Amino acid sequence: MKKTVLVTGSAGLVGSECVRFFSQKGFEVVGIDNNMRMAFFGKDGSVEWNKKLLLETIPDYLHYDIDIRDKSAIEDLISKYKFDLIIHTAAQPSHDWAAQAPYVDFGINAIGTHILLETTRKLAPKAVFIYTSTNKVYGDNPNRLPLVELEKRYELPENHIYYKGIDETMSIDNCLHSLFGASKLSADILVQEYGRYFGLKCAVFRAGCITGAYHSGSRLHGFLSYLVKCCASGEKYIIYGYKGKQVRDNIHSFDLTNAFYHFFLTPRCGEIYNIGGTRIASVSVLEAIEICKKACGKKLAYEYVDKNRIGDHMWWISDVTKFKTHYPDWKLTYDKYSVIDDIVRGVIRSGGVSGSV
Ligand SMILES: NC(=O)c1ccc[n+]([C@@H]2O[C@H](COP(=O)([O-])OP(=O)(O)OC[C@H]3O[C@@H](n4cnc5c(N)ncnc54)[C@H](O)[C@@H]3O)[C@@H](O)[C@H]2O)c1
Repeated sequence: MKKTVLVTGSAGLVGSECVRFFSQKGFEVVGIDNNMRMAFFGKDGSVEWNKKLLLETIPDYLHYDIDIRDKSAIEDLISKYKFDLIIHTAAQPSHDWAAQAPYVDFGINAIGTHILLETTRKLAPKAVFIYTSTNKVYGDNPNRLPLVELEKRYELPENHIYYKGIDETMSIDNCLHSLFGASKLSADILVQEYGRYFGLKCAVFRAGCITGAYHSGSRLHGFLSYLVKCCASGEKYIIYGYKGKQVRDNIHSFDLTNAFYHFFLTPRCGEIYNIGGTRIASVSVLEAIEICKKACGKKLAYEYVDKNRIGDHMWWISDVTKFKTHYPDWKLTYDKYSVIDDIVRGVIRSGGVSGSV
C-alpha cells in the first residue's frame, strides 16, 4: 500500500520540493497552502504559480487551501488520511515581518504548529513528524563569536571550535531572537517535547538559509532567490549593514528534503539537527553578488544601507555532523556555485516574473 504524506506549506520553497520528491518516491501526497506568503510579502511572494505547477505536473497531487490555524479542518484532514509522514513547512518565515504583526506570526508559527502536533498525537500517533525550524532559535548568540573581518567576509579563526560550523551545543538563551525567532523557538521546543514526553517520532531541522529554484524570493525573505531576481531584472538590491560581509551557508531544498527522507526511513523521537549547506555552500552577501553577476552574465545595481536588520547574524555556517552521524548515507549535492546556477536557470525559464521557475 502507498505511504501517505502531508506537506504543510506545500506551494512554498521547501514544501513544493517535498511534494515533488515524495511523489517520485511513490507516496500519495496531500498538501495544504493558502498562499499566506502573498499576504506577507505582496505579489513577489505569491506561490499561486507553484501550486498551479504542482497540480499540472504531479500526478494525483491533492491540494487543500486550508489554514494550519483552522483546528477543525486540520482534524478532518488528518483523520481522513491517517498520514505516515507529516512535513510541516508552513510558516510566517521572516523576522522583519514578524514585528509588524506579532499575533499573526505567533498564531501561525507557534499555535499552528501546536495544532498540527496535538492532532497528530491524537489521530495519527504512528506518523513521523518533521518540523522546519531555523538557526534564529540561537538568537544573536552567533554574533558573539570572535569574528575577524576579511576583505569580502567575516570569518572565524581556523582553530575555533565552530570554524567547521555551529552545532547544536550553542545556547538558545540570553540573547535577542526577534519575535520570529521566539515564535519558531516555541514551536521547536513543542516538537521536541512531543517526541520526549509523548514518544512521537519527530525531528526539528534548524536551517540557516534554504534556497532553490522554487523560491518566491522577495525583499523580506529568500536572500539568494531575490538577489538573482534583482540581477536578472535590473531591480536594485539593498544590502542591510555589516558592510555586506555577513556570511550564510545555503542549503538547496532538494538536499534538505532528502535529509527528511532519511529521517523518515529510520525515525527517532524528539531530535534536533542543525542543517545547512556547510562551508562548501557558504557565501557573504558581497561574494554572492559576484557569483550571481557571473552566473547571470549581468551587472547588479545595489545600494548599501548602513543599518543591519535587528538580530541579523554576522556569520552562520552549520555543522551537520550530528545528522550525518545518525544518517551516514545522506550527503549534500550542491555547493555555492551549483546552488546559484540552479536559481539562475529557474529565473531564466520563468522570465524572472513570478516565483523563480
Ligand atoms: N527559506 C529559508 O531560508 C528558511 C531558513 C530557515 C528556516 N526556514 C523554515 O522552513 C520552512 C519553509 O520555508 P520556505 O522558505 O519554504 O517558506 P515559504 O514561505 O516559501 O513556504 C511556506 C508556505 O507556507 C504557506 N503558509 C504560511 N502560512 C500558512 C498558513 N497559516 N496556512 C497554510 N499555509 C501557510 C505560505 O503560503 C508558503 O507557501 C518555514 O518553516 C521556515 O521558517 C526557512
